[in-house]
Amino acid sequence: MAALQKVLENAPTYAERVTGRPPADTEAQSLFNALPAEATTDNKYLYGVMADGLDMVGCAEIIRGWPTSSTAQIGLLLLDETHHGHGLGRSTYHLVEAKVRSWPEIDTLRISVVRSNTDVLPFWRRMGFTETGEVQPYVHDTLVSESIILAKLLPDEAPAR
Ligand SMILES: CC(C)(COP(=O)(O)OP(=O)(O)OC[C@H]1O[C@@H](n2cnc3c(N)ncnc32)[C@H](O)[C@@H]1OP(=O)(O)O)[C@@H](O)C(=O)NCCC(=O)NCCS
Repeated sequence: MAALQKVLENAPTYAERVTGRPPADTEAQSLFNALPAEATTDNKYLYGVMADGLDMVGCAEIIRGWPTSSTAQIGLLLLDETHHGHGLGRSTYHLVEAKVRSWPEIDTLRISVVRSNTDVLPFWRRMGFTETGEVQPYVHDTLVSESIILAKLLPDEAPAR
């Protein structure tokens, strides 16, 4: 939990964009507990990204079978900011996609991007995602924005390179 908290504290730009504030002291606990409506802990998979098998430098959250039984939502893919821009996001995404492909009931990966964080849209497009046209309201304390929904069909496409 301490390692996850450190990772989240080392990604302050993301926190500012999606909460309007720097990372809270309870950020790791909140991520552990967060579940979308109607999902349960059985749906939730939370991974640490380990550099050299030692230090946690990122995390990935997947919600299996949500919002539909054949969809998996990437709840979060986040790296310590000092590790951005060196291909680690791509390699982490490939591990996430491989994991999801091992779940036979899942044929679609989904991601929700808050409009205040749309700088990351090119990353998701590079990973093979496209905008679905679905947009949802997003409210976090005083931050009022909206979420853009992207998706990637898994059976018909090779993994992104
Ligand atoms: C999104 C994130 C995981 C990307 O990780 P990364 O290690 O910086 O990305 P990579 O270096 O693997 O980049 C892979 C490709 O995406 C592109 N890319 C990544 N971030 C980008 C950005 N902000 N703008 C434009 N292109 C970007 C890279 O140029 C690269 O393209 P290429 O195929 O031409 O080489 C990382 O920026 C992050 O942790 N951000 C904070 C958390 C966050 O916003 N997560 C997404 C929530 S929706």
